[in-house]
Amino acid sequence: MGFEDIFKHKPQIKESANARVNLIGEHTDYTGGYVMPTLLNFKNTVELSKNDEKKFVVFSQYFNEKKVFNDFIKSKNSDWSDYIKGCFFIFFDENKKIKLEHFNMYIKSTIPLGRGISSSSALCVSILKALNTYFNTQINEKHLAILAKKVENEYIGISSGIMDQMVSSIGRYEKAFFLDCLNLKYELINFPSNWKFCLIDSEVQRNLRSSSYNDRFNELKIAEKELDVEYLGGVDLNKFDSDKISDPTVIKRARHVVSENNRVLKAKECLLKDDINQFGKLMIESHNSYSKDFEASTADVDEIVKRSFQCGALGARLTGGGFGGFTVSLIEKEKFSDWYKKINKYYPKEKIFEV
Ligand code: GLA
Repeated sequence: MGFEDIFKHKPQIKESANARVNLIGEHTDYTGGYVMPTLLNFKNTVELSKNDEKKFVVFSQYFNEKKVFNDFIKSKNSDWSDYIKGCFFIFFDENKKIKLEHFNMYIKSTIPLGRGISSSSALCVSILKALNTYFNTQINEKHLAILAKKVENEYIGISSGIMDQMVSSIGRYEKAFFLDCLNLKYELINFPSNWKFCLIDSEVQRNLRSSSYNDRFNELKIAEKELDVEYLGGVDLNKFDSDKISDPTVIKRARHVVSENNRVLKAKECLLKDDINQFGKLMIESHNSYSKDFEASTADVDEIVKRSFQCGALGARLTGGGFGGFTVSLIEKEKFSDWYKKINKYYPKEKIFEV
């Protein structure tokens, strides 16, 4: 069932935004550091038309459900439509001169939800893009990402950073998106021709809201306070003074972020120098740090990472906010079919996605 089946007319606007996989740099965005994601082929598409009955009517193909509302009050039980209301709220709040209009909206997505590849950012970015096109508000890609982040932070209540929205709004296929999250300067870097990334789904459903994401955020903010720095991203690995932090758990969390930033910078150099072996090693180090110091992995995920490496990947790690979801592996192109054959003995092809 498409837009026309539901609303009996053609949409006026159609926009989409893609999911991402983060190659390295986890929880380094809201701590003023570096990240390096790339876009995936999975995408969220939004179609809309004006509603003349002063109602917002939204149909989600994924949930096969229609919601009708005429205010932007958030639901009490975390409903999917909260993201839509949040986008409208932030958009109209940002553009106070625009007279409120109502819409029919149809949302479809090929993005597996809750697996750490930023389905919610792609949703918010595509809705804001559609509103931007409809009202011709000329919001640029960077500002659009900032607004999408506001939806998550201020409306939904997740303390997430800016990585997902930036790459979803500005990123390009087959290019790494190196981002300095403090000043939002980015570089689009080509992948060397013999590199291949592949995702394996751990199938552990994660939900940023109910997971420990906000706890980690708070722990890192404690670390910044005790170290007396504005952002952990500015702390040099060699100058990281863990004695200043009182809680041993907080020390581990901060150590992950400080060392991870260092790894992202090294990984960028590897990409530019076509050093696939070293990039792979950095991914493994990143995963170990994410699993042991940040305690954001699960037994299933650790096993996928280990097996992928044993099957011939040069690096593998858990990607995204943590606590399950997708893993990403780096494989040399010539060895890809051999790796695939071996890993396929453990995981069915429905769980393996080539990037
Ligand atoms: C989620 C958040 C991002 C980032 C990652 C972890 O995807 O939305 O801002 O913090 O987790 O790196």
